[in-house]
Amino acid sequence: MKFIRSEIIGHGHYAPAKVLTNDDMAKIVETSDEWITTRTGIKTRHIVENELNSDLSFRAAQMALQTAGITAEDVDLVVLATVTPDNTTPATAIKVATMLGTRPGTPALDVSAACSGFVYALTVADNMIRLGQVKTAVVIGSETLSKITDWTDRNTCVLFGDGAGAVVLRAREGNGDAKDTGILSTKLYSDGSHYDTLRTTGGVSSTQTAGFITMDGKEVFKYAINSLTQAAEEAMKLADINIEEIDWLLPHQANIRIIEGVGKKMNLPDEKIIANLAHHGNTSAASIPLALSEKMSEGSVKKGDIVVLTAMGAGFTWGGAVVRI
Ligand code: ACO
Repeated sequence: MKFIRSEIIGHGHYAPAKVLTNDDMAKIVETSDEWITTRTGIKTRHIVENELNSDLSFRAAQMALQTAGITAEDVDLVVLATVTPDNTTPATAIKVATMLGTRPGTPALDVSAACSGFVYALTVADNMIRLGQVKTAVVIGSETLSKITDWTDRNTCVLFGDGAGAVVLRAREGNGDAKDTGILSTKLYSDGSHYDTLRTTGGVSSTQTAGFITMDGKEVFKYAINSLTQAAEEAMKLADINIEEIDWLLPHQANIRIIEGVGKKMNLPDEKIIANLAHHGNTSAASIPLALSEKMSEGSVKKGDIVVLTAMGAGFTWGGAVVRI
């Protein structure tokens, strides 16, 4: 029987030119390179100046189409994960689809699941491909978190950055087993009892402002290691992949201590864990596709590799995916 998989045939990433170092942060709030480095692992972050989310998304998606060797005319669906859209409505994905030059009528939507956004968006696109509704999808994670950062709050402002990453998915016939190429499994979760633990201080319906990110960092930290591990392990179980078969674990890039905690819990050597947050900070929905595309561009993540994606963020939301590149 025919079994459809979504294969990653292209990847792209983009970060704005302006870079803020930890020393720059120390001029904005009372902090130090030493504190930020030891508590988070972050050294620099990229910050937008005159660009919008749609500009970052467009750059990442354009690179993804180029590496896939296809044009926007071939795209049947655009899904964009973000919590920092250009406008409350319409969805930024629709603007990006038009900027890319997709066929008139091509469906496009935004997905809001905070730092788990890319895994959620990937799941939406994968399921539409596997149902046969679309053949080729561009899936983007893009954020301008600097626009919802409280630059007077040292508890949060040192953590975040702006950027975008994207992949092109294409339907491909497989056997339905773990030897297939493409997305082998996805698993999503949410738990609204933590709604207030990590959120913005405003919103359209409540305050008519976007608000700023606020959180109970210690509480988030506590849940992050467990939920990232749970999502990775559940996705591996669904894909019928064991820990020895993994080439890379790609966790959401929030804090190096969280990433190391997940690696330890899963018994994975450091060499198999992807971490780029030293250069980007936490870019929420962009963090996984940005890191994936960087690693694919430098050739360390290559054809045939098994990559386990795992993410956790506001909501709480969390989720995992297993992909054979
Ligand atoms: N510079 C200097 N001191 C600081 C800073 C800063 N930037 N920020 C906080 N501090 C101070 C605090 O005020 C506190 O001082 P006090 O003891 O006098 O009150 C002290 O440092 C210790 O603060 P802690 O909260 O104990 O520091 P901790 O080791 O927990 O690290 C951090 C804080 C980095 C936020 C950590 O809790 C964390 O990473 N949590 C996860 C949250 C996260 O990453 N959220 C991002 C979004 S969610 C996601 O992506 C999964």
